[in-house]
Amino acid sequence: MARTTFGRGALAALSAAALLALGACSTTAPEGSDAGSGDAGSGDDLITIGFSQVGAESGWRAANTKSIQDTLTAENGFDLKFSDAQQKQENQIQAIRSYIAQGVDVIAFSPVVESGWDAVLEEAKTAGIPVILTDRAVDSQDETLYESFIGSDFVLEGEMAGQWVAENFDGQGIKVVELQGTTGSAPAIDRKEGFASAIAGTDIEVIDSQTGNFTRAEGKTVMEGFLQAHDDIDLVFAHNDDMGLGAIEAIEAAGLTPGEDIKIVTIDAVKDGMQALADGKINYIVECNPLLGPDLADIAKKVIAGESVEKRIVVKDEAFDQEAAVAALPTREY
Ligand code: AHR
Repeated sequence: MARTTFGRGALAALSAAALLALGACSTTAPEGSDAGSGDAGSGDDLITIGFSQVGAESGWRAANTKSIQDTLTAENGFDLKFSDAQQKQENQIQAIRSYIAQGVDVIAFSPVVESGWDAVLEEAKTAGIPVILTDRAVDSQDETLYESFIGSDFVLEGEMAGQWVAENFDGQGIKVVELQGTTGSAPAIDRKEGFASAIAGTDIEVIDSQTGNFTRAEGKTVMEGFLQAHDDIDLVFAHNDDMGLGAIEAIEAAGLTPGEDIKIVTIDAVKDGMQALADGKINYIVECNPLLGPDLADIAKKVIAGESVEKRIVVKDEAFDQEAAVAALPTREY
């Protein structure tokens, strides 16, 4: 697949043209971001990188933001412009347009949903600004719209969760409820698919499945609804730790024991989730590694240097049972 790389001089010229072309557009940044600060370049040799983050919905996201902010520093050669989209695609598109207008050297973002990016990615391409995707994919057919995608294999994560459930409960006719991530997001789509494929052909049944938007509060609310609607729930599959932790609160409030009366399987393996696993309230966790800052820094430097980069960088994930969580917790970084 053809890949476009840019020298910094060419970038500066193209970015200036883009700034003029976009002069009539509104580039107001979302509240709480520096996407609209108007500081087009740092004037030194730093790589100016505009990063649009999904939000602050989960412990995973907090760890991911910290990794990016800790790595893309001036000492490491970067001038980072960071914005929080508050889980709204329109905020991310606005931030990306602002970065284009500012003429940053590189744009990176974690797309809140998979669809609807082609127009703004075309704008970045026309402006000569390379784009790097982190964490989540876009469903664009045109792979020249971005340089590289760094992140976990979400289908595999769902499969690993489903395989553990199948290995431990096939033949028992158990009933599962599923707390899905944000509707339309890559991890929600892929983890659901991976889990379903792993339990296909078993007698395990998913009796209800709704979004909890990757947050603890919504995970709790949706689980409360599941408990009212069904008196035969054996297991919760939550697409992230935070929703699983919300489900624990709902299960305990209903007078039941999480991890025993109702088993819980989640994805992420952040510290709060791992503690609940060590405490026996969660039964199994598949990791999703949030420490994407170093890979992003590496790819951004290569792209700016005109070097070729891998189109897809898959981050490896482990899985934990209770014993593994107890062993891992003392040195767990996130
Ligand atoms: O895209 C990664 C997912 O987003 C994490 O699993 C979840 O916790 C986060 O909100």
